[in-house]
Amino acid sequence: MSETNTKCGVALVGCGVVGGATATLLTRDSEILRGRCGTRIDLRYIVDLDHTHARELGLDESLLTADLTAALDDPDVQVVIELVGGITTAREITEQALRAGKHVVTANKALLAHAGPELYAVARENGVSIAFEASCAGGIPIIRALTDGLIVNRIDALYGIVNGTCNFILSAMVQEGKGYDRVLAQAQADGLAEADPTLDVSGEDSAHKLTILAGLAFGQNVDFDAVSIEGIDKLQLMDIQQGKALGYVIKLLAIAQRQGDGLCLRVRPVFIDIEHPLAWVSGPFNAVSVYGHATGHTMYYGRGAGGMPTASAVVADVVSVAQGLWPKLFAQLALWPDRCESANQLPIEEVRSRYYIRMLVEDRPGVFAQIGRVFAEEEISIASLLQPEVEETPSDDLATIVITTHVSREGAVRSALARCGELPTVRARPVCIGIVDEHPEQLWAEGEQQE
Ligand code: HSE
Repeated sequence: MSETNTKCGVALVGCGVVGGATATLLTRDSEILRGRCGTRIDLRYIVDLDHTHARELGLDESLLTADLTAALDDPDVQVVIELVGGITTAREITEQALRAGKHVVTANKALLAHAGPELYAVARENGVSIAFEASCAGGIPIIRALTDGLIVNRIDALYGIVNGTCNFILSAMVQEGKGYDRVLAQAQADGLAEADPTLDVSGEDSAHKLTILAGLAFGQNVDFDAVSIEGIDKLQLMDIQQGKALGYVIKLLAIAQRQGDGLCLRVRPVFIDIEHPLAWVSGPFNAVSVYGHATGHTMYYGRGAGGMPTASAVVADVVSVAQGLWPKLFAQLALWPDRCESANQLPIEEVRSRYYIRMLVEDRPGVFAQIGRVFAEEEISIASLLQPEVEETPSDDLATIVITTHVSREGAVRSALARCGELPTVRARPVCIGIVDEHPEQLWAEGEQQE
């Protein structure tokens, strides 16, 4: 697209919740957009196999079609919006659109996390671009921040609460003291969690977003398959309550940190201090914290899911493509994963963190000493050790103990827990949850230079 274009034809493929909201914004608010941006966005096709939702929304019947080929053959269509979801069909549609010389706007994080570099290369071969603001954290313009506002920064770390479903469930567990299954059932009944919530609660959705965000933050090609992922589905209310008593709140964080020459990338339910900047991000909201060498800490907050917030990001991408801004960034920046070196993703054992550990042990002399010896041999320094009285402790001969550690290597902690799990006095598999401290700002002095 060139700056002189004043009209941009669009085909929308997939009219579900986000597609319907996008079509609504592009039709209902088209005059407002034209007044603000000087470009008329002309929605010409809404392609889907089932138009029930489009009809419920009262979208223009003349736009509805099942014929993708007609949309791709239309020379007046410059942009295809892919909102089909999933990987297989979405990839086919995306490749077809790119090969037909159309720019693609997508919200599909799974597709980009798995096949982003290949698709970006196809886009370049065909002289077009892929825009994906809606793929990460819905309505929050975090891709713009990383590719524009923060461009001079050497980013040290990025922490995200990037799954609204998980944040909603965890917030309710903390605030209402209800167990995971009860809260999930309520969230599903209220339409705040999918009937099959696996992609969200397993942490995989957050890892898709982390792959995209970390790639741009560090200018490296991140391998989704090497991201360590743990979800929230195994969390027990008892640990959330013990953490709360220690002054922590539980959050599912997508974490990307530089460590030496490598990157530590993981998705984990972790404890953060109630004073941590991400601690107050509750309910379905998302937030991303980014630490740059010039900016220090910046944080981006908003709704990360839902039709209208996500459609807002889709429309912003369409406008940016129509104005020729995004295609320029896509052509010129060196940050895109198809143009970057593969990231040196460190094994999870190399992560350094503090940890919360809970064990069920025999309540008799010498048990602490046995556990303490294992921790000492693994060079893990214990920060606190408690034997709280908890109802869930199954008998009077047993005790629940809670240990917090100083910063330790995750490999050492795993090894210590495996060894403790084999002690006859330890009666159940120990539970371990990372404790993530607020990242230190590392503002560089004026004399210092990036490599
Ligand atoms: N299912 C996601 C969430 C939104 O709950 O945040 C889409 O990525």
